[in-house]
Amino acid sequence: MPFPAAETIWMDGAFVPWDEARVHVLTPTLHYGYGVFEGIRAYETPEGPAVFQLRPHLERLHRSARLYPPLDTIPYDVDALVEVVEELIRRNGHTGGCYVRPTIFLGYGEIGLNPLPSTPSIAVATWEWGSYLGEESLEQGVRVMLSSYRRIGKNTIPPAGKANGQYLNSSLAKVEALRAGYDEAIMLSEDGFVAEGTGENLFVVRDGTIYTPPLHDGPLAGITRASVMQIARDLGFAVVEQSLVRTDLFLADEMFLTGTAAELTPVKEIAGYELGPRGPVTEQVQRTFLSAVRGQEPDYLDWLHPVSMS
Ligand SMILES: Cc1ncc(COP(=O)(O)O)c(C=O)c1O
Repeated sequence: MPFPAAETIWMDGAFVPWDEARVHVLTPTLHYGYGVFEGIRAYETPEGPAVFQLRPHLERLHRSARLYPPLDTIPYDVDALVEVVEELIRRNGHTGGCYVRPTIFLGYGEIGLNPLPSTPSIAVATWEWGSYLGEESLEQGVRVMLSSYRRIGKNTIPPAGKANGQYLNSSLAKVEALRAGYDEAIMLSEDGFVAEGTGENLFVVRDGTIYTPPLHDGPLAGITRASVMQIARDLGFAVVEQSLVRTDLFLADEMFLTGTAAELTPVKEIAGYELGPRGPVTEQVQRTFLSAVRGQEPDYLDWLHPVSMS
């Protein structure tokens, strides 16, 4: 699929034409993966486009940057980046919503492994992007395997950050899953507890209770995860953060994945164990989530950052 290019990308304070948003091939982040990024979605709502959980995403970007000095020295705070995202959506005319990708990376100038002398750069891009795991997956669910790759450990690359280089781990697991005929992979932590998918958090439902791995088992602190936990509790479900082992997945009544890209995607099979079509708990939480992001749930309107198009 060709990239759904937009008009302009914001780089270090300037809006540049899409095709001119370039970096040098000796940009250190390209070589060592030392950078951080975010993935954010804007949706079409009755009041115009609105960005879902914009500030929490930009705050996480800053937290990630803090773990990787000197990325934290970029001179744009959350308020400044909020304005950039609004202006980009306007300039790119994304009335129907879009994906938003901020990234902070080491600018050209140094090539050693020491990042500290480098000057960080920042860019924000937006483009129109449909469902990540396929349109029908939101209803039909996906097939997931248990990866032979372990999720990066707490003392290797901090899972609390969202750093470019850690996605080697995710992409290796993703390729393994796709080559084995699955849609997605679940990774276990180094000590054998369920961590998460390659770009999604994971939830299982058993006897009406919803379980998700705690952050100390290595998943990213997903913003969709937190939103879905809130929705599920408001719907009256018990939501428990609890370490899970692989058999908890095989014995689940229902399972689903959450993430900005995957939204809330049901799992219909885990490593040969059939879970069946989207279950009733998954469906109820998913329905509320998908209408909340579109501005149709009054209780969650404060999760949306409206963007005026004029
Ligand atoms: C590894 C990983 N886990 C989980 C998530 C879901 O996080 P969020 O809901 O904040 O998009 C992502 C996506 O950013 C991710 O890359």
